[in-house]
Amino acid sequence: MNMKKRNAFAALALALGLTVSLTACSSGSEGGTDASKGGGDAAASKVANKDKPLVWFNRQPSNSSTGELDMTALNFNKDTYYVGFDASQGAEVQGTMIKDYIEKNIDKIDRNGDGVIGYVLAIGDVGHNDSIARTRGVRKALGTGVDQGGSVNSEPIGTNVDGKSKVVQDGTLEVNGKSYKIRELASQEMKNNSGATWDAATAGNAIGTWASSFAEQIDVIASNNDGMGMSIFNSWSKDNKVPTFGYDANSDAVAAIGEGYGGTISQHADVQAYLTLRVLRNALDGVDIDTGIGTKDEAGNVLSSDVYTYNADQRSYYALNVAVTADNYKDFTDSTKVYEPVSHQLDKTKSPEKKVWLNIYNSSDNFLGSTYQPLLEAYDDLLNLKVEYIAGDGQTESNITNRLGNPSEYDAFAINMVKTDNGASYTSILNQ
Ligand code: BGC
Repeated sequence: MNMKKRNAFAALALALGLTVSLTACSSGSEGGTDASKGGGDAAASKVANKDKPLVWFNRQPSNSSTGELDMTALNFNKDTYYVGFDASQGAEVQGTMIKDYIEKNIDKIDRNGDGVIGYVLAIGDVGHNDSIARTRGVRKALGTGVDQGGSVNSEPIGTNVDGKSKVVQDGTLEVNGKSYKIRELASQEMKNNSGATWDAATAGNAIGTWASSFAEQIDVIASNNDGMGMSIFNSWSKDNKVPTFGYDANSDAVAAIGEGYGGTISQHADVQAYLTLRVLRNALDGVDIDTGIGTKDEAGNVLSSDVYTYNADQRSYYALNVAVTADNYKDFTDSTKVYEPVSHQLDKTKSPEKKVWLNIYNSSDNFLGSTYQPLLEAYDDLLNLKVEYIAGDGQTESNITNRLGNPSEYDAFAINMVKTDNGASYTSILNQ
């Protein structure tokens, strides 16, 4: 609309008593609508949401009671994957790390000299495969596990100071020809009143309660993760010189090894964060899924088989775990550093910018917040992905799914569920 016509239109509108916004009028007729614009947005909307690449990460779609994988969610479309770590290998490494420490320190580990090496265990989430695997790993290595239908019972015991629990048993350890008893004195799922699991503050309170009734018997502390482990370390175990063993190799926990934290496990978050975004990138570029993973890409990115495995039947990539102890912790001080072999920038002309919707299930989770997300943020630049990070409250799936209101705006999705059974809450939105 030219100036002359616009004035005439305004005069006519005035005469008719209409209120007209000339700015709105002008943008509507001259600027064009969003729908008529070309570029990235239009390209994204050409693909149906149900056909866009989707990666589940950190919480594998599975039945939270039986652990059975949710193959419907894992096979949502041809570009669906899961990225996590090898839970049973990691659990074995954690259990062995603790057992090795006890053996090495056998002369001083039994603080009250009662002949029983007592430990307490902080459990993250009884409905999460990774947490279950870690509980089993510790019980198996220390001989305290009890068989339940072919695998080690992973239930919390409450307290077992008298050794009478049926869920665990006393283990025996032979060191230098002498036999020692190992007892799980107590274990608890660290869930807060609002339902958030892996809860660090709850773990800090639990050690307070345990220590107030049987402090002298606690010789070792095992935790399903560093968030809970560090809370226990800071509130009790550091001052009392009792080693705490965690999992994740978050920077603060690694630094604490220098001050008496027993050790932790790196689940190679640097490899997982890369894989999380890389599988989306490859699907968006329409290249072989192994590009920049097992097969070197043009920029030089490639992973060696000692840091990950791929299970095609499960559509799952699993990073491998490494023990971080007093012997090697100086190599792990920065948990947010990208993994050098996959740190090369992709060419924007071949891998143009794409938009990704990604959620972190709990904004106060130590591992996801202090290690995983910073790594994702480093890799998203290298892979030319514009990622929108959505933070959940760790308790309600709908708090997150509500913010997937307009999936057509995105080219791909990365999902970290609150509860591993809830895959359909997300896929049903993409199917609409
Ligand atoms: C980590 C935990 C974390 C959990 C969240 C696990 O892999 O070890 O620290 O709380 O993921 O799902």
